[in-house]
Amino acid sequence: MERKIPEHIGIIMDGNGRWAKQRNLPRSEGHKAGAKVFRKICEYAGEIGVKYITFYAFSTENWRRPPEEVEALMNLFRDYLDEAEERQEENKQKGMRIHFIGHREGVPMDLISRFETTERDSRDADKIDVNIAINYGGRLEIVDAVKKIAHKVKDGEINPEDITEQDISDNIYTAGQADPDLIIRPSGEYRLSNFLIWQSAYSEFWFSDILWPDFAEADLDKAIDDFNNRNRRFGGV
Ligand code: IPE
Ligand code: IPE
Ligand code: MG
Repeated sequence: MERKIPEHIGIIMDGNGRWAKQRNLPRSEGHKAGAKVFRKICEYAGEIGVKYITFYAFSTENWRRPPEEVEALMNLFRDYLDEAEERQEENKQKGMRIHFIGHREGVPMDLISRFETTERDSRDADKIDVNIAINYGGRLEIVDAVKKIAHKVKDGEINPEDITEQDISDNIYTAGQADPDLIIRPSGEYRLSNFLIWQSAYSEFWFSDILWPDFAEADLDKAIDDFNNRNRRFGGV
């Protein structure tokens, strides 16, 4: 039987710190290695026909980390944006449409304006939508959606009684995208850590002890093979 490729895959890129610790390196080296793997897996996902992929890069809770670690992560995002600019043509050919999802407030200003440039430059690509979740929290995403809907109620555009699940889906950061079919979390942790909590209502989960900087194309293949053996019922029989 032909292998079915999940339309949307979510990945919690976890385990960078432990990977660095195993090698007696600073945590920032783990993040650097993790960023390389992000690029590799992103390209591979496009090649095998994944339509949407969401990478969890920085959570609303990650601000609790030491300032030097937060700064190192922000600098890696800057490096990625530099590269996206340099490789604009190449990424276009690969059909990568980039979106930054998350709460913009709190993110350094220079990053926000460059998020917008990168999104605009890749707008016409149509092979794979790549969501990069930065200052992302699933609960805050729902709060943001509720605020938008509350404004529509206040302006008389919608009746409170008429609010549907679809209205929430239409007002979250991933509006218009398919919900994730498969969520992957390496590093041996068995939790969502506030990732895509609305969208994952019927996602399949795949956990592994592998640390994110060691994650390879073969691991994505393994997750997809396992996904193919799942029986998704969506509440039916
Ligand atoms: C994931 O790796 C990267 C971010 C959360 C930004 P961690 O830094 O959480 O790695 P561990 O969990 O400490 O190993
Ligand atoms: C989740 O990893 C966030 C990202 C991968 C960006 P964490 O390492 O922050 O999650 P917890 O703290 O172990 O739940
Ligand atoms: Mg972690």
